[in-house]
Order: sequence, then structure tokens, then C-alpha cells
Amino acid sequence: MTHVQTEPSLALVKYWGKAETGLNIPATGSIAVSLSGLNTSTDIRLIQDSKQDRMILNGEVRNDPKINSFLDYFRQRYPQAKKLVFEINSSNNFPTSAGIASSSSGFAALAIGLARASGLQLDNSELSRLARCGSGSASRAVFGGFTSFPAGAEAASQLFGHEHWPDLQIIVVMVHTGSKPVGSRDAMELTRKTSDYYQAWIELSADLQISAEQAVAERDLSKLGPIMRRSYMAMFGSMFAADPPVLYWLPDSVALIHQAAEWRRKGLEIWETMDAGPQVKLICTRKELPRIEADLKTLFPHLNYFCASVGSGPIVRQEDY
Ligand code: DP6
Repeated sequence: MTHVQTEPSLALVKYWGKAETGLNIPATGSIAVSLSGLNTSTDIRLIQDSKQDRMILNGEVRNDPKINSFLDYFRQRYPQAKKLVFEINSSNNFPTSAGIASSSSGFAALAIGLARASGLQLDNSELSRLARCGSGSASRAVFGGFTSFPAGAEAASQLFGHEHWPDLQIIVVMVHTGSKPVGSRDAMELTRKTSDYYQAWIELSADLQISAEQAVAERDLSKLGPIMRRSYMAMFGSMFAADPPVLYWLPDSVALIHQAAEWRRKGLEIWETMDAGPQVKLICTRKELPRIEADLKTLFPHLNYFCASVGSGPIVRQEDY
């Protein structure tokens, strides 16, 4: 059995929109960080007694069309795996499909695990290319640390390992834990097809990727923060202008955005970002954590949160039994 543990990839500068050719080829470049402590754990084993793959997701037997087509794609892409049938048992220690990038860690684990279980020797770049075909953001989650996934690229690459910025902290505040009303894939396509602001978003994001990469290289949160804010706000601007609009934000999401501004006014270095869901991710350095946590407990006592630092990337284990 192959066991893989991955971490979700949180975009500091966002991938939102696909190029018209190719599978999940991004129209915008993204820069991301792996979240330590949040994990997808996936066990994969070959099965001999069935022609049908079996899937257990978060403890329930499921038939997930996205995973089915990824498995078919995998068997078609690698002739050595053509006749293999898999049992996949995958779970997350954080809410699934709630805008915490579970598809990034999920498909990264699947790509790594399928390759290993099939006896394929794929390098990280090929694993990233493969994972991308499951979900664009998964191309980043095959690496730990900080990653870049440029517009038009087939694979992501690692910019820096987790040791580059050990001081960076990411607080994921859970505004609402249910599944989101529209999946990111459909919302992204709707934005591309119907939003008058989509083109402006694509053009802006090219500059943001370059400057975010520099700010990460310099470990400069005061430089990175405003770039992150521009990226997520412009991404949501393009969603709000879609027809019908895509509105993931909830009242507590907005309250947290205001609270982050309030913390900054008080001199704390903290910046927020959001993804395809209502959760708010607060990014700060270690010394700000006690104050932020105390304020969250007082001001948002009804909300849970997870604290993460920069993750070191996937762990793979082979178990014979
Ligand atoms: C807002 O990678 O989930 O989290 O390629 O269609 O599977 P697909 O989309 P997905 O989109 C991620 C969108 C985002 C931003 C990001 O992670 O860069």
C-alpha cells in the first residue's frame, strides 16, 4: 500500500481562469504557500479482484466523477498503468470543498500515490504536470514551501523550501464549514465566459506575480501584503461582475476583512486573503500570533480557526502487508 500525505496550497497571488487550450492551464500566474498541519492522507492499493476502482472519501464510499476521470486519464497517459485498478482511501483533517484548497492537496496526493503504486518513476515536475490535470492548484501542492505556477505553464515549480520563511504564520478562520454553493471550477469558467472584468483581472495578475515573488524572496510581509490584497480583491471583482454573480463572501468574511484593516491601523503586520469560499486566511508573523488569537477569541468567539506555518511538502510511505 502507498500512503501519501500532502498539504493544501494557499495562493498568495491567485490562479483564477484557464487558458482556452489544455487541461487546467492557468490564464493567471499564481504564487502559493503550503500549509503545515492541514493534511490530506491518501492510501492507494492495487486491487486484483475487480475491474472497478473503489473510493472512500472522508470515511464514505463514494463515486466522484472528477476522481474517476482523473484515474482514466492516468491510465491513458501511462501505458504501464493501463490495466491497473485502484482502491483509494482519502481523508482530510480539515473541511473538504469549503474553500481551503482541498482539491490541491487531494489531487496532489492522488497523483503522487498513483504514480508510486504503479511503479512509475516520475520527477516532481512530471508529478506537478499530472496533478494539474486533476486540479490546477494541485500542481503546486506536490511541492512544499513556496511555489510558482506561471500563466500558460503545464507545471508549477518550487521557489523556496519551507525553511525560507519559518516565521510566517497562516491563520485559517472558518466562517462557514458547509460545502460551497458553486465549485471553483464552475465559478472560474462562469467568470471567464461572462464577466466584463475578467480581461482586466488577467492583465493585472501578470504584474502581481512578479512582485509577489520578489516580496517572498525578501521575506517582506509589508511588501507582500498589499500585493496579496490586490490579487484576491481583483479576483473577486471579476467574480462579482460575472452573470450570475459569484458571491462566496458571508457577513463574517467581511467583518474579518475589516478587522484585519483595524489590526494594521494598530500597527500589526497582518494581511488577509480569501479563495473560492467564505473562509478568511490571515497571514502574519509569529510575534503577532498571541494578540491576533486573543482578539479572535474575543471578537469572533463563534468561529474556529487553524494556525499553520509554511509546510514542508508531501510525505510518501510504502507499506507492504
Ligand atoms: C481560488 O485549482 O480548485 O483557490 O483547476 O478547476 O480544479 P481547478 O481549480 P482549483 O482553483 C483554485 C482557485 C483558488 C486560487 C488558487 O488556489 O490559486
